[in-house]
Amino acid sequence: MNSHNCISSDVKMGENVRLSNFINLYGCEIGNNTKIGAFVEIQKNARIGDSCKISSHSFICEGVVIEDGVFIGHGVMFINDSYPRATTLDGELQTESDWKVERTVIKKGASIGSGTTILSNITVGENAMVGAGSVVTKDVPRNAIVAGNPARVLRLIEPVDTKPDVGAIPFLDLVPPHLELESELVQVFRSGLHTAGFVGGPMVEKFENSFAMFCDVGHCVAVSSGTDALRFALMASGVHSGDVVVTVPNTFIATTEAISQAGAIPEFVDIDEHTLNMSVERLQLYLERDCARDSSGRLMSLRSGRQVAAVVTVHLYGQMADMDPILRLASQYGLQVIEDACQAHGAEYFSRDLNRWMKAGSMGRAAAFSFYPGKNLGACGEGGAVTTNDAELAGTIKMLRDHGQAKKYYHEMEGYNGRMDAIQAGLLQVKLPHLARWTEQRRSRAVEYSRLLAASEAIALPYEPPWSRAVYHLYVTRSNDREGLMSHLKHAGIDTGIHYPIPLHLQNAYASLNYGRGAFPVAERAAAEIISLPMFPQLSARQQNKVAVEVLAFASKSLLGTGR
Ligand SMILES: Cc1ncc(COP(=O)(O)O)c(C=O)c1O
Repeated sequence: MNSHNCISSDVKMGENVRLSNFINLYGCEIGNNTKIGAFVEIQKNARIGDSCKISSHSFICEGVVIEDGVFIGHGVMFINDSYPRATTLDGELQTESDWKVERTVIKKGASIGSGTTILSNITVGENAMVGAGSVVTKDVPRNAIVAGNPARVLRLIEPVDTKPDVGAIPFLDLVPPHLELESELVQVFRSGLHTAGFVGGPMVEKFENSFAMFCDVGHCVAVSSGTDALRFALMASGVHSGDVVVTVPNTFIATTEAISQAGAIPEFVDIDEHTLNMSVERLQLYLERDCARDSSGRLMSLRSGRQVAAVVTVHLYGQMADMDPILRLASQYGLQVIEDACQAHGAEYFSRDLNRWMKAGSMGRAAAFSFYPGKNLGACGEGGAVTTNDAELAGTIKMLRDHGQAKKYYHEMEGYNGRMDAIQAGLLQVKLPHLARWTEQRRSRAVEYSRLLAASEAIALPYEPPWSRAVYHLYVTRSNDREGLMSHLKHAGIDTGIHYPIPLHLQNAYASLNYGRGAFPVAERAAAEIISLPMFPQLSARQQNKVAVEVLAFASKSLLGTGR
């Protein structure tokens, strides 16, 4: 019967390949011990690995790479051109030179069910399983089981694991980075005890210089918390009592506490649906529609009748706010811009206006950072810093943090007790050189989450615009059954968080601002759906895999309607 096969001489055939009948092979490569069923066509430049099983009636076109140990069911169709046409624009039949072959890879051990169609430019991950009759339109993660048209992830195959279960997974584990640096950190405590220089002094100055360099700014003033940093930055940049400061409702309350503590009144604009940070369109509408110039040209809020002085942009979750248009609008309306970078140490923004990447904290008039222990750069207690390129402003903040004194007991103004402890500065100085590595670890955890969860429609993943290099202080996803997902994960021993469950305009603390439900629909919807998954640099691959397995298990239960 082998006479019915059509196998051209340029086929690279491995050893012990078993062929059925009516097979058409040309220019391709077939690995050892592979078995090919009847009526299979494999085109030139396609590569089939060792020990594969290609069932009858399948069509494997140019550009397809099938790695070792892959099972291909009956009648599986591959496609290698996203926009196939019969003819060219001149009406001539297309030839090879008219199309571009797009590559598809089926990774080791994957299994493709009968009757599946796989569109071009797809990678099916290692050991993944594609259900019979599926249409695969996007990459399939490793170990995922997908089915349907378009194919969706039903769940992950739990790898056979002989090691003990990873156990409970905390939302954040602060112990490993401190143990890693234990001896250097203890040395800071020791030298603090030996010198008894507990407040201010050379350790604080050294850290200020290092952090200013890290943020690409001229000045850093270390203070006692992120909240104080924001309050001092607002006060020093000329926000006066009774002024309005515009910010977003989706942030930690410290943002608006600092505004109120500077004597100002917070007003809100809604967030962007995708980035969950300030919406440029909403800011523009607010300035155009909800504000007016008074007779002396001052920009007044129509809601409060107060002068609008500043905008606080928050780089929430370590994702950058879209600074170029915000800075442009602020300059057009004569407003200060203060960055709340408390969650964004080292995040970067590609300024299309300046044509370069800029560090968080280097774009506004000033910026506030928090070194609360859980932050990407955290102290072993409280701490914060203001960064700025304005030397005069930095000088004012130095006075504000220290009872308004420029020189001991000579008070230029009333200030605050807002200094940083020397020991905290010393500890931050030890940790700062490790921040870039920790950030890369966070980023690679984020990429891995996206890869594992990308094909699941039950959960929406964070969006990182091309102009942002986020630092993933938090990995915030969205689910329309957030409570169900949280309790499923809790049951599996996985801690999650909500950042934040009630947008600020609906908090009791701001009832007097008189914003009702529905005032900021994007922030309100987000608050009902967001769920933060475990994220910290030392999160292990096995821990992360367990989180993904459980998220997908919950998703498949919901899809199959079996409830919890
Ligand atoms: C967005 C945001 N702003 C401000 C702060 C205030 O920082 P701190 O807690 O150091 O006062 C935080 C910290 O929790 C924050 O997340």
